[in-house]
Amino acid sequence: MKFPTNFGLVMVTLGLMLISSPLAECGAFGLKVNLRNPFSKQNSKPTKTSETPAQSPAAGLAPAPSPFSSYPWTPSGSGLVVGFYNDKCDSNVEVIIEFLVEQEFKKDPTILPALLRLQFHDCFVHGCDASILVDGPSTEKTAEANLSVRGYEFIERLKAALESECPGVVSCADIIAVATKVLIKLGGGLDYPVETGRKDGLVSNAADVQLPNPSMTVDEAAAVFAAKNFTLEEMVVLLGYHAVGIAHCNFFQDRLYQGTAQFDSEMDPSLVRQLKQTCPQSPITNNTTPLNQDSTNNNTLNNRFYGELLGNRGLLAVDQALSRDPASSTIVTKLSQNRALFDIRTAQVMIKLQAVEVLIGDQGGIRKTCGNIN
Ligand code: HEM
Repeated sequence: MKFPTNFGLVMVTLGLMLISSPLAECGAFGLKVNLRNPFSKQNSKPTKTSETPAQSPAAGLAPAPSPFSSYPWTPSGSGLVVGFYNDKCDSNVEVIIEFLVEQEFKKDPTILPALLRLQFHDCFVHGCDASILVDGPSTEKTAEANLSVRGYEFIERLKAALESECPGVVSCADIIAVATKVLIKLGGGLDYPVETGRKDGLVSNAADVQLPNPSMTVDEAAAVFAAKNFTLEEMVVLLGYHAVGIAHCNFFQDRLYQGTAQFDSEMDPSLVRQLKQTCPQSPITNNTTPLNQDSTNNNTLNNRFYGELLGNRGLLAVDQALSRDPASSTIVTKLSQNRALFDIRTAQVMIKLQAVEVLIGDQGGIRKTCGNIN
């Protein structure tokens, strides 16, 4: 897809879309954004994220998404800036990504959980440098922990669109970050000022993939997060993204059957019955079920997942442990009771996650395709 850089052409394009699409008025094809001339650039200079007067999230913020200025955003302090590409490409890089992400989300809302997980798995191994995207016989992508990660092809499509607009300018690492931020908003989370300026990594080794596993205790998982400078509270907040997406039986099946390593006698009996049908002990299946068993969940980000944990309806042992371990249970309770707190903390901690060990300036490079180091 070629993106117009000229305002007149944009308006003609929009006019044609409006005439040709009865859905246009309800925001299909990203028209909510398009009508404000999306491909032109609103700002010419990148800006540092600014902090607004702190308003305690716990004080009860309105849950509806608000303009950035209404929330106390904390810049990551990593050297990234908001609007890095404003003076680097004739087209508006972030709006192009937003446009394509909206289209994809309408077709397949599971792209939201897919990219949330991909972002986490990328950032916790060599930082947010898109090293997870690299193809090859023993790259990160091939590591056991990454085998069911999804969304690679979509990122590659975004990259191709941006390469045709401004070749060699936009990093794959930034594409993941901006696309994930757009998806969080589409999934009902807060819109936050995404920082950009990441470079792509030059290294990707399966052997370096040391991610937390779903059978860990809270202490064990917290130690992995602490090594990346995340507090226990921030870990509990990030695990709230298990509000969306799926898990395969092999990650939790042991909790269902007496005599197995992780058998959990406290799991809600009705959930046990239901999960046993999805994941019979024999024959072993590769079935999946939602990570969040809240029946109203539908690829939507909200805090009901924590309520599920408090009701002993967590799927992964590590998630369930959060509500049982005294070190984390009060955090779970607080998040379960305050949707606004969940919204603001997830967005704030996501800014921090997306800045883990980033490469900037002369470090790393810009790939031509995300699957290959140039
Ligand atoms: C202790 C840390 C974590 C562990 C042990 C863990 C483990 C897992 C496991 C086992 C799955 C199921 C994968 C599958 O069956 O294909 C999963 C899915 C998922 N995880 Fe995590 N995770 C952790 C942290 C996170 C964090 C920090 C995020 C977000 C920032 C996240 C987001 C997701 C999402 C959205 C899915 C669903 C993916 C999909 O639908 O394809 N996880 N996680």
